[in-house]
Amino acid sequence: MINGLNKSGVTSLLYEQVAGEIAALVEQGTFRAGDRLPSIRQLSTRFDVSINTVMQAYALLEDKRLIQARPQSGYYVRSRVPEIREPDLQSRSVIAPATITISDLCHQVMRNMMRRDLLPLGSAIPSAENLPIDKLNRIMASELRKYGDHAVLYQMPPGYERLRVQIARRALMAGISSGPDDILVTSGCVEAVLLALRATCRAGDTIAVESPFYFNFMQMIAELGLKALEIPATPRDGISIEALRYAIEQGRISACLVVTNFSNPLGSLMPDERKRELVELLVRHEIPLIEDDIYGDLTFDNERPGSAKSFDHSDLVIYCSSFSKTIAPGYRVGWAIAGRFQAEMERLKLMMNIASSSPPQLAMAEFLATGGYDHHLRSIRRVHARNISQMAEAVARYFPAGTRMTHPSGGFILWVEMPEGIDAIQLYHRALAQGISIVPGPLFSLSGKYSHHIRLSAAQWNEKIEQGIMTLGTLAAELLPRL
Ligand SMILES: Cc1ncc(COP(=O)(O)O)c(C=O)c1O
Repeated sequence: MINGLNKSGVTSLLYEQVAGEIAALVEQGTFRAGDRLPSIRQLSTRFDVSINTVMQAYALLEDKRLIQARPQSGYYVRSRVPEIREPDLQSRSVIAPATITISDLCHQVMRNMMRRDLLPLGSAIPSAENLPIDKLNRIMASELRKYGDHAVLYQMPPGYERLRVQIARRALMAGISSGPDDILVTSGCVEAVLLALRATCRAGDTIAVESPFYFNFMQMIAELGLKALEIPATPRDGISIEALRYAIEQGRISACLVVTNFSNPLGSLMPDERKRELVELLVRHEIPLIEDDIYGDLTFDNERPGSAKSFDHSDLVIYCSSFSKTIAPGYRVGWAIAGRFQAEMERLKLMMNIASSSPPQLAMAEFLATGGYDHHLRSIRRVHARNISQMAEAVARYFPAGTRMTHPSGGFILWVEMPEGIDAIQLYHRALAQGISIVPGPLFSLSGKYSHHIRLSAAQWNEKIEQGIMTLGTLAAELLPRL
């Protein structure tokens, strides 16, 4: 390879030749989507060129969207599947409130999520093989022995203090300065969001959500008699601040519910600047923001992203999260940092279920204090990043031409846009008949959008999953409208 470089620079510049060499390695499959490329120093030695030349070569390949830099981590090969199209943010007709009718399909999809006889291609649940189960089991057993009575009696809200101390320490990584008394332990993130909605809205109120949006929250909004106002979101930046500003000018909005980091299903990561703008806009209009940051720890970078809450100087942001995506979904340990709504949410929780289950709180506190959570995170981030690339490659290989998808930089969810005319609900039924579960796009909207989209989960990757993607691709092709 070194010999192949023409240092006289007659035909092309040296850095272009280096870029060409790297592009060729990607083309040949030596480095595949998601793989880390050699460091700048390694390449400079290997090609016998300056550090600067390699940096220029990498910058060129980044411009061509062939590779991607991840801060403090290096350069990675990008997936070659076309990125999903951005919504037309100019079209204001998309922003109209609607009341949700609870769909049987939603219930069926959720029920199917844990069925062991189905290939779990849709559920946003981490794979058990990637969770620290043995360690948690050991910790749980020893905590139960150690705490005796405490384990069987109530841990009254705001919850087990040692756990709240650990959560407050971790919140710092999301840019939030809080004390243990600012934390309310909940039964999963879903309960935190439910309490937040109940504390901020009354039946008939309108709540702004990003679109597409996590379907379980859509149901929750409907159950509370609220109206959801779908604000377009882009895979790159998340909820459109411009469209939200327009919506706020048009009518009364009681709260805004947003998944700021690696949203579900778009996987969008709101840049810090957009988070700040979002908080400023809402604070200006005294609208509470309910921020769900359940996926933030699952960044593919070394450092987790910040939160909208970190820009909140008015105590108007209710930050919600849980360990369901990272440690143990079945423990149901979540929390809220609710600012001025903290007391009301605590009152509502006492009324609804008195307290969250005690043993998981004891075990989670010990795991966070001594169980190597950061080490565990590093390992699952790597696994998910790899799984996402492999699944994206498989979708590119097996799905009909014209399929697009998101390229998330965290989490483990892919949002796939198939060619128009492929009915995602029909695909869902046909896949189910073949033992495969997916989530059809229409569940993520109230207004008939996303008819040809599906959500896939890359929590696992193995031969069976690849077979499943192949089957899905064939089924999708069969549903292509005939010309
Ligand atoms: C955005 C989002 N929030 C909350 C949840 C559920 O959280 P928990 O299981 O902690 O209640 C999910 C699960 O899919 C989710 O995607």
